[in-house]
Amino acid sequence: MKITIIGGGNMGGALVKGWSKAGLAADIVVTAHTQQTLDRLKEVCPGITATLDNSKAVEGADIVVLAVKPWLVEGVIAEIKASLKDKLLVSVAAGIRHERIDVYAMPNIAAEFGESMTFIEEAPKAVVVAELFSKVGQCKIVPQRLMNAGMMMAGCGIAYVMRFLRAMMEGGVEMGFYPDEAKEIAMQAMQGAVSLLRETGLHPEAAIDKVTTPGGITIKGLNELDHAAFNSAVIRCLNIMKNEEFATALEPLNS
Ligand SMILES: NC(=O)c1ccc[n+]([C@@H]2O[C@H](COP(=O)([O-])OP(=O)(O)OC[C@H]3O[C@@H](n4cnc5c(N)ncnc54)[C@H](OP(=O)(O)O)[C@@H]3O)[C@@H](O)[C@H]2O)c1
Repeated sequence: MKITIIGGGNMGGALVKGWSKAGLAADIVVTAHTQQTLDRLKEVCPGITATLDNSKAVEGADIVVLAVKPWLVEGVIAEIKASLKDKLLVSVAAGIRHERIDVYAMPNIAAEFGESMTFIEEAPKAVVVAELFSKVGQCKIVPQRLMNAGMMMAGCGIAYVMRFLRAMMEGGVEMGFYPDEAKEIAMQAMQGAVSLLRETGLHPEAAIDKVTTPGGITIKGLNELDHAAFNSAVIRCLNIMKNEEFATALEPLNS
């Protein structure tokens, strides 16, 4: 399957690198606004084809992935319309709807390392797209009303996790570690927590019970987080987009 990615920036570039690592380099054509971006991608993924010509890039494709900034989507579609014909058009642009787009996908930049959490909106060709994105991480096909929720948790979520990690680092430095050491320690603690939950299938609170001694220091730290409204801050951070879609999004995914 030939894949053309329009816009090899942070997100498009991560997909190019992730799919290349998955052995698809020879099937990838990528475009960008500047040659510099293409040269950078070619340097790390020499097997791909890179061009500044969007229309030409689309000609031989089976799937076209739009990864330009949201405000450029309309113009790019107009530019490639003639070459698009019956090709599958996928967009990863946040919040942009267009009648020509067949499937909306919301990956994250961990796609570069095969660790994306990608949400694909229900559509006739969603399964084909999910198959492709599952080569760069996990995929979930969801109804339209859950796309923004998925984006907040997994797309923006990466940034929120980074903030928590930075806070751990700052606390570590205050206690005497060098920043690099503090970063390594915080990352390993995070990785350990994720592995524990994955391996045991435990609910986070059940795992927390394994770490806390009655009257001990861990519960004191956890309660400090509660006094500072940590849970509430995270929940509010994920729910900042108040719109109609969220107002109707009351039914759980697997109900
Ligand atoms: N970043 C994320 O974490 C993330 C996650 C999910 C979805 N998205 C979505 O992905 C899209 C891109 O975001 P981004 O963060 O990757 O932005 P970005 O880093 O600015 O990348 C955009 C890319 O588009 C290229 N471009 C600009 N005009 C173009 C044109 N006319 N034809 C072809 N390519 C063109 C740019 O080329 P140059 O580099 O040469 O300027 C750049 O490489 C957005 O719609 C965003 O909503 C992003």
